[in-house]
Amino acid sequence: MLSAKPIPAPSEDKRWRIVNATMRRHGYNASGLIETLHTVQEAFGFLDVAGLRYVARSLRVPFSQIYGVATFYNLFKMKPAGEHTCIVCLGTACYIKGAPAILSSLENTLEIKPDETTADKKVSLVVARCVGACGLAPVVVLDEETLGKLPPEAIVEKVAAWRTPVSEEK
Ligand code: FES
Repeated sequence: MLSAKPIPAPSEDKRWRIVNATMRRHGYNASGLIETLHTVQEAFGFLDVAGLRYVARSLRVPFSQIYGVATFYNLFKMKPAGEHTCIVCLGTACYIKGAPAILSSLENTLEIKPDETTADKKVSLVVARCVGACGLAPVVVLDEETLGKLPPEAIVEKVAAWRTPVSEEK
């Protein structure tokens, strides 16, 4: 049987290497679909259309089928509704280095829990399990920017800036 070949990842983001490792382990075979989607979610905190397209092409599964799987099972989360996404890594390395304190500060400031979006639709809070940058623990990903070794106050300040309209700044 002809097996699928690796194709270029959607971005330079190192987390795609983790996803690729899972697909490679399954020989880029469709039988690895569910585990691959799990890996995407653990690395990115959620699934989005670009990621699903990448997995679909890599495993040679029709996009409609993969989208159906991703939206059918409750265990998979699609990209949240907020304008910005704040992902707190709760993998072991980050947990030990203070991720719970960061998450708790964000929850208090934003007044939301993980998988929720602020009422103004500005920020969605998401947790992930290892985003592949353990050396920077504790890691937070603000949209596409991976930040590490920052105290909770610094993270909260950056996220709060998303919610402050420039015209209201004094
Ligand atoms: S545990 Fe957080 S990046 Fe690996």
